Amino acid sequence: MPASPLRLGVNVDHVATLRNARAGRNPDPVRAALAAIAAGADGITAHLREDRRHIRDDDMARLKAEISKPLNFEMAATADMLAIALATMPHAVCLVPERREELTTEGGLDVVGQHDTLKPLIARLNDAGVRVSLFIAAEARQIEMAAELRAPVIEIHTGAWCDAVADGRAAKADAEWQRIVAGAALARSAGLEVHAGHGLDYVTAERIAGLPEIVELNIGYYMIGEALFVGLGETVRAMRAAMDRGRGNLGSPEPPSAGRAARDPKGRA
Ligand code: PXP
Repeated sequence: MPASPLRLGVNVDHVATLRNARAGRNPDPVRAALAAIAAGADGITAHLREDRRHIRDDDMARLKAEISKPLNFEMAATADMLAIALATMPHAVCLVPERREELTTEGGLDVVGQHDTLKPLIARLNDAGVRVSLFIAAEARQIEMAAELRAPVIEIHTGAWCDAVADGRAAKADAEWQRIVAGAALARSAGLEVHAGHGLDYVTAERIAGLPEIVELNIGYYMIGEALFVGLGETVRAMRAAMDRGRGNLGSPEPPSAGRAARDPKGRA
């Protein structure tokens, strides 16, 4: 059975992190979004954090107005953010956990514990025609609750797996990988659309692209870092090539060689 195409959503938060370091206008995350789309990105992701540490309100409004591909608006599940999302009307809203003291989004949203807060918020977004995605760990009870809450999409948090792969903790990486494989299958069988993201690089994106249930990857930090050396367009093309290789390995028991992919994203010797 042919796998569904795998979309690449490019997260431009860290272009704004760099811009904000000098509190000016450059580099502009909207320009980055346009460059990523020109190079083949299927969508743009941006996270309007409550502390506005990177993306700001006007960035989100400009992204919505200026990009030609779907905008995925990441946000905490609060009334203030809901109001901004409904005024912006992005293609999708991805609900994420947020703590001010964290460096990045640590762990998934506890949709079981936050059921009462999430239920009306998801219903409101569903009614408005905004596609809701819940950023959760690949745990059965969280996945089942996401389906019960009528979210059409989940995004599986790949951070723990990617950290373990990067640190060479093989047993931990394998355990996290098995969790992702099982979670993706369970979510698909529950009728959810499955995305994945956090901490992905060329190696991990290639590997996870081999899971046919997953139809979208959202990737930011690694790509923006790579773009410093080879440019954003080249980074998007190299990430797309890694994902295509992984999609071509559907059902293969062998993971891609970490050494090869890390040395050369195009897989050349
Ligand atoms: N998906 C979600 C829901 C996220 O919160 C983030 C980080 O903002 C990403 C994907 C992208 O993660 P990274 O920047 O580590 O690639």
